Amino acid sequence: MPVNLPLSRPDFIEVENFSFHYGEKRAIFDISMKIPENQVTALIGPSGCGKSTLLRNINRMNDLIEGVRHEGDIRIGGTSLYDPSVEVISLRKRVGMVFQKYNPFAKSIYENVIFSLRVAGRSKRSLLDETVERALKSAALWDEVKDRLHDSAFGLSGGQQQRLCIARAIANQPEILLMDEPCAALDPLATLKIEELITRLKSQYTIVIVTHNMEQATRCSDRTAFLYMGKLAEYGETVQIFENPSNPETEAYITGRFS
Ligand SMILES: Nc1ncnc2c1ncn2[C@@H]1O[C@H](COP(=O)(O)OP(=O)(O)O)[C@@H](O)[C@H]1O
Ligand SMILES: [Mg+2]
Repeated sequence: MPVNLPLSRPDFIEVENFSFHYGEKRAIFDISMKIPENQVTALIGPSGCGKSTLLRNINRMNDLIEGVRHEGDIRIGGTSLYDPSVEVISLRKRVGMVFQKYNPFAKSIYENVIFSLRVAGRSKRSLLDETVERALKSAALWDEVKDRLHDSAFGLSGGQQQRLCIARAIANQPEILLMDEPCAALDPLATLKIEELITRLKSQYTIVIVTHNMEQATRCSDRTAFLYMGKLAEYGETVQIFENPSNPETEAYITGRFS
């Protein structure tokens, strides 16, 4: 066992009085929350309540949309994402993202994994080979694809394509992994594999996952945030949120009285 492991930071990601507007439309209302390092934090709540908007602000993905503005702050490891010294490109290296619809590129399995290294101009064969093996092993895909690394990614099953997207997202060894309904397009077995993977990956990454699946939140998250109409209605340990919610809307939502 390694000794002297650094203690996880309870306030690794700090969202402080954060509001977000798409033009006239306000999607997030004054959210404050602290997301701990090396845990899985689930964002749940009805459609349109702002889950994706909050998630996509953690790597400033929403900046790309015309007419948006924010108030408040988001900090990672104490540094504001909006600090003038923060470059969005390097921020995205620290904060990887996986989407609902798995989206590998029209390339080989190998080239998908090392895509960001190619973009960065890295071409040393041994580095690329090592990265492919490490990332695919971390994404629990290596054994299934090691003999066909140069085949098209599109030949893989949906669940395998999503694990490939996870491998691509972690190839650069980010600190944070954002996942927006990563299992929504997958069957139950493929979903289970991704959930097992999430549970394993949290020792290395801080994971924030949006999910519509309550069982998924209880199975793989440590903390759960319930968003309701753009506000943070309730946030705490997943066990507490599901067994003893303090907010009536949370209870109505998790017991399936509205979706
Ligand atoms: N690009 C956009 N332009 C304008 N409004 C948007 C955009 N994306 C999301 N919204 C609005 O912001 C609100 C929150 O959306 P979203 O974060 O996608 O919710 P969720 O992921 O919880 O379903 C919704 O009312 C949605 O219509
Ligand atoms: Mg969404």
